[in-house]
Amino acid sequence: MMNNENSGAIEKLSDPGLPEHIHRKTDVDPRAAKKAERQVSILFALSAFGTLLFIYSYIWIPEDTFIFLPITGTTNAHQLFLGLGLAMALFFIGMGAVHWAKTLMPDHEVVDYRKEQRSKDEDRAALVATVKEGAANAGLGRRPLIKRTMGLALGLVGLSPLLLLRDLGPLPENELNETNWKAGTRLVTDPGDRPIRPSDLEVGGVAQVQPAFPQGKVRHLDDIAKDSVLLIRIRPEEFNLDAERLSWTYQGIIAFSKICSHMGCAVALYEQTTKHLLCPCHQSTFDVTRAAKVIFGPAARPLPQLPITVDSEGYLVAQAPFNEAVGPSFWERDS
Ligand code: FES
Repeated sequence: MMNNENSGAIEKLSDPGLPEHIHRKTDVDPRAAKKAERQVSILFALSAFGTLLFIYSYIWIPEDTFIFLPITGTTNAHQLFLGLGLAMALFFIGMGAVHWAKTLMPDHEVVDYRKEQRSKDEDRAALVATVKEGAANAGLGRRPLIKRTMGLALGLVGLSPLLLLRDLGPLPENELNETNWKAGTRLVTDPGDRPIRPSDLEVGGVAQVQPAFPQGKVRHLDDIAKDSVLLIRIRPEEFNLDAERLSWTYQGIIAFSKICSHMGCAVALYEQTTKHLLCPCHQSTFDVTRAAKVIFGPAARPLPQLPITVDSEGYLVAQAPFNEAVGPSFWERDS
């Protein structure tokens, strides 16, 4: 619409019209249309294959299965095929829909003018009729192969989220009490796997915090989740601990589970001036000087502490396993 100031009248722009419709090869050549139909079906079938791969990986490939690939090196097969399967399922369903639309669905351009918010009843009825006509033109009835493969692909993709319900159980029971820490287990750096001497950590310096794992083990996902430890060194006189807890530290070095007792995120932010450990997920804050007592946030209990000392060669070792079960508090637990 254009406002003509001289005449005060509103002038309607002329309709530029539609460009001439150009027929695609599939519009005029039945063999090309049949070929496109097969291509669309293959894409939907690949999507279905991707979903089956996802389901197979989720149920039958153990979580700690590793394979060697030249590009990525040692790779977790469970996660690789889960990701690959889901990516294939979604990618090929999209590719199939796009290819179908570009080659076989009607491609006549349609123009409509902007209207009042609610269309007239006859226009609404006309829209319903147009949609029905479009659906009929899409030719699903005439193309049973596409219909079946698309139904298979969509059905399987729709089913796959149900698999995630499996993660709701079973409860871990005593598993969170069982880690690879036992008396005499050396602490090694994460990353690097180097045994740690007390002198490797310096009070107030860059190396006052050190993530660690137990030495000498092939690490599976569960181990990484349950065994990871954070070593922090402060001045021994800064601790506010009872005699037993103090005996679990070594020359100002204290070790906590790195897994937040709220919902299991990695607690890895250390405020040097306040001696507070922060969980980045929901801001639970733990006081290092008081055995990781919760001073802020939703965590309901302190981080489990790993009693430490040194062995005959002067390397840090565990005196005993964690003092209580690691991980989130919402599990049923013995401790
Ligand atoms: S997981 Fe750490 S505060 Fe929520």
